[in-house]
Amino acid sequence: MSEREKRFDCPEAAGGPVCTPEPERARISGSETVRPEKKSFAVDQSVTLAGVCMKNPVVVASGTFGFGREYGQFYDLSELGGICCKGLTLHRREGNPPPRIAETPMGILNSVGLQNPGVDAFIEHELPELRKHELAVIANISGSTPEEYGVMCGKLSAAGVDLIEVNISCPNVKAGGLAYGTRPELAAEVTAVAKAHAGTVPVMVKLSPNVTDITEIARAAADAGADALSLINTLRGMRIDVRTRRPILRMNTGGLSGPAVLPVAVRMVWEVHQAVDLPILGMGGVSKGEDAAQLMLAGASAVAVGTACFADPYAPVRVRDGLAELAEEQGLARVAQLTGGVLPW
Ligand code: FUM
Repeated sequence: MSEREKRFDCPEAAGGPVCTPEPERARISGSETVRPEKKSFAVDQSVTLAGVCMKNPVVVASGTFGFGREYGQFYDLSELGGICCKGLTLHRREGNPPPRIAETPMGILNSVGLQNPGVDAFIEHELPELRKHELAVIANISGSTPEEYGVMCGKLSAAGVDLIEVNISCPNVKAGGLAYGTRPELAAEVTAVAKAHAGTVPVMVKLSPNVTDITEIARAAADAGADALSLINTLRGMRIDVRTRRPILRMNTGGLSGPAVLPVAVRMVWEVHQAVDLPILGMGGVSKGEDAAQLMLAGASAVAVGTACFADPYAPVRVRDGLAELAEEQGLARVAQLTGGVLPW
């Protein structure tokens, strides 16, 4: 068991649900987990993503924050711009067998396999709790068929989520998932079905980095009516125990996330921003304000913090404050002015 697993008493190590930090121990275990000092900023931090107004550009990434219950013990979720909830499927899923998470230098590999309670349980039990806070609620969905995406969009639209993130990029399930995210015609089909059932709720398509040219998939989703894009999902990777010669993850491969993937995310956001005229939620390895600023300069309108939350539950708050500080240092009136501001050589 790694030091971090011990520190958070991670149930993942015993094959339980996805690791979530246990508040008291996390708070006393190191300076990184101490609540950041409250700061006030003159800069306007609000952003708009596909017509959804958020008080700041920091969202938490799907699969790293559950439905906010555990992290809500550390701070009011209203401090965040939004939450991308753990990926939902039409029916409850137990996920993949353990081990499902492994550390890597500067990141983690996961193969959780979309463990979730199902869309109806989310609507009944989780959405009302999230609605007690002021933040954008983004439902992330995965389907085995385009029809399943449609049914879920209909339910979530009726339930009144703010945005639907259509995941066509999960590397850890056999049916659906990555298959839709690597072929432009399938990405277009899923996007069109989602749009047809989402009513007035905007649809954001989550893209995979596991492709030769991400702009092809981005264009296909845009042409099919997507209102926004989010990128990147995890990069497929593998670790092997050289003594047992077994892969560390029970499913052999998994998705890599964490600081190691940030430059890949920045490059892909930059490419997609030039290729399509859609707002982008940028993510991949963000753990401080400067990381978020890189994604915004590359073209993102908002950013998601993911893996960093496992080591520091306050990471999204620190990223938000770091971004505001940086914008003030640069004399900007609005953090949103960073978007697309890179000056390529
Ligand atoms: O395995 C998982 O639950 C991960 C989902 C994803 O990366 O989209």
